[in-house]
Parts: sequence; structure tokens; C-alpha cells
Amino acid sequence: MTTTPPLLRASGLHITFPGLRGAPPARAVDGVDLEIGRGEIVALVGESGCGKTTLARSLLGLVRPSAGQVSFEGQPLVYKGRALKAYRRRAQLVLQDPSGSLNPRHTVYDAVAEGLRIHGRAGGDEPARVAEALARAGLRPPERFFLSYPHELSGGQRQRVVIAGALVLDPELIVADEPVASLDASVRGEILALLLGLRAELGLSALVVTHDLGLAWNIADRVAVMYLGRIVETGAVEDVLTSPQHPYTQALLSVLPEAPGTPVVLGGEPPDPARIPGGCRFHERCQVVASGEAERAGVAAACRAVELPVLGGGGASQVACHWAVARDSDGAGSESGAGSGDSGRGGSPADVLSRRTS
Ligand SMILES: Nc1ncnc2c1ncn2[C@@H]1O[C@H](COP(=O)(O)OP(=O)(O)OP(=O)(O)O)[C@@H](O)[C@H]1O
Ligand code: SF4
Ligand SMILES: [Mg+2]
Repeated sequence: MTTTPPLLRASGLHITFPGLRGAPPARAVDGVDLEIGRGEIVALVGESGCGKTTLARSLLGLVRPSAGQVSFEGQPLVYKGRALKAYRRRAQLVLQDPSGSLNPRHTVYDAVAEGLRIHGRAGGDEPARVAEALARAGLRPPERFFLSYPHELSGGQRQRVVIAGALVLDPELIVADEPVASLDASVRGEILALLLGLRAELGLSALVVTHDLGLAWNIADRVAVMYLGRIVETGAVEDVLTSPQHPYTQALLSVLPEAPGTPVVLGGEPPDPARIPGGCRFHERCQVVASGEAERAGVAAACRAVELPVLGGGGASQVACHWAVARDSDGAGSESGAGSGDSGRGGSPADVLSRRTS
């Protein structure tokens, strides 16, 4: 029996940046396995500095891993020449800040046509291809925007131009780094609907990088929660966001505006990839350790001393936490997967949490 490889697979990925002036190296990505299937949208969430952008850039071949491998359709990336250029057509980056990623002196037409020209695909049908990409990105009629400059457009329209610039190359994978972070709430909804429509229409796969759990809820099939260079919890969005197993995921969810109960304020130093603690990398800040709960569960010593394994990159629900695993094997943690029965996703994860607890 042959199995089809996922569209994208990262295995055992490490990315280390050298420390300046004798400082220890920063292990920005420190052992990550991640898979993205065809037509699948995966959200990568975690607080600032946890390594999301570094991981995303390495999946696009923009950063070469210090160890491990990225493969596309089962083939390892080749980091040179035409092979890399061909890959960069198939996997496109949509950047965080539309005003920063568009050249203010280029018209919308030139901004979208640039990718075609770089990849030697600009032929007689260039205007038609630019028009099609703009229309797909929701800028209609497209010809009306050809000669506009970025400053003449709204933030939402600029984000659509950036998306059109990616779509014009017919990519199979889009990596969107904080795609709506700088947009107003109403425009965010429109861009999210656009991304979901593109998946339905074109079968696009996407990795959406965000620190916004509400965005992950609205757009993704699967979520991967990253802490200090590692994925610490992953699974279907409904499972992870309505029944979080890792104390870090629980803390992230607890500070959402509508979340029930008291928000968890994490103690300890802000995470530093140049000083990753031994044992569980979260133990110095973990609320389950701080409250004595880990001690009562008999896992506190393991939390401080026993490193957790790298989670597999596929779709199954997984968590890297001694306490969650112990609870699960006791049966007390058998809520795992309780969210999967929910059909549809009304409201936010916090709404669902409050419905579940009321
Ligand atoms: N080129 C670099 N040289 C040295 N350190 C770097 C470099 N790029 C990133 N880092 C460090 O790697 C860590 C991860 O950075 P990264 O930008 O991937 O985080 P992030 O999760 O995307 O954060 P944010 O949510 O703020 O965008 C940070 O500590 C950052 O300072
Ligand atoms: S392993 Fe221990 S320290 Fe780490 S998250 Fe779980 S309970 Fe907290
Ligand atoms: Mg980032």
C-alpha cells in the first residue's frame, strides 16, 4: 500500500541564530515536526518571539534549517538555483504589513505582475493574469485598480493586492504571517472570508501565523500552539480551543475577553530562545507547577527535569505535558477531544468555553 505524502512536511526542524558578542545562540526553532495537507488550513499560534515567523520562513525555503528537513510533495527542498525558485512559485508568502510590503512607487498592476516577471511567466497574457488575480482577491472590476498606487487604497484593499500578488503565480500553498493584524475588525472579516473562499475555490493549503486565537478559530482546520521554539499542543481547532490540555494553551485562552474564570497570569521571565530551560521548557512559568497541582499529581519532578518528546506533525490531537498525559492516563483528562462533536463554529473560542461552563 502506498500513502500519499502531505503537501508540506517539516521534520526535526531546528533553526539556531548565532549569539552576538559571546552570547549563547538563539534556538528560535528547536525541534518541530509539522505537516500541512492539500486544502488544509493550519494556524500556528503563540506569543511574540516564540519562533512563528522563523518557522514559517523556513517552510518557504527562505531560511535554511540548522538541522532537520522540509519536504514538499515528499521531495526535500533544494536550497539553490532553479529548484528553489520553482518552489518559491508554488509556496507563496503573504506578509504581515501590507503598507510595508508594497512599493509605494509601483502601481497595483506592477505590484501584481512582479512575481510573473521574476518567474519568467510574463507573456502576452500578463494583463489577463493580473486581472484574474485581482478579481480572485476581490478587487473588481480589476482594471479599475491597475493604475492605482498603494496610498490611494484602503488597508483592506492593500492586503488584497498583496494576496493577488501571491495568487498570480497559481501557488499550492500560502503562508500568511499575521495577515489581518493591522486591519480594522470589519475588514478582517472580509479578508478571512476571502482566504476561506480561496481554499474552497482553488483547493489552496495555508499556514496562517498569528497570535490571535480568534483568527485561528475562524479560519483553521487545525492549530499548532508554539512555545519557545517547539509545538506544545496540536489538534483540530475545535478540540484544542474548546478543550485545551496544555497549561500554556489554557493560559492563552484564559485571557480572551469573554473567557470564563480568572485570567491566568504567567509568572517567571519572558521566554528567551538563548536560555531554554531544561525539563519542560514551560516549567518556570507554568501555573500548574506554581499552584502545587503538578506536585499533587506527582509530576513536578518530571516537569523540572524530564524533557518532553517532539510532537508528531500530523492531524492527531497531541500535547507535550507530563501533567496532561498523567491526567489522560488517569481518565481525568478524558475530556480530550470533547469539542469534536460541535458542528459549526459560532462565535469565538471563548464564547464556546463560556457556553460549555454555563
Ligand atoms: N535573524 C535573526 N537573528 C537572530 N535572532 C533572530 C533572528 N530572527 C529571529 N530571531 C530571534 O528568534 C526568536 C523568534 O523570532 P520570530 O520572529 O520567529 O518570532 P515570532 O513568533 O514570529 O514573533 P512575533 O509574534 O513577534 O512576530 C526571537 O527571539 C528573535 O529575536
Ligand atoms: S509538563 Fe509540567 S511544567 Fe510543563 S506544562 Fe505540563 S505541567 Fe506545566
Ligand atoms: Mg512573527
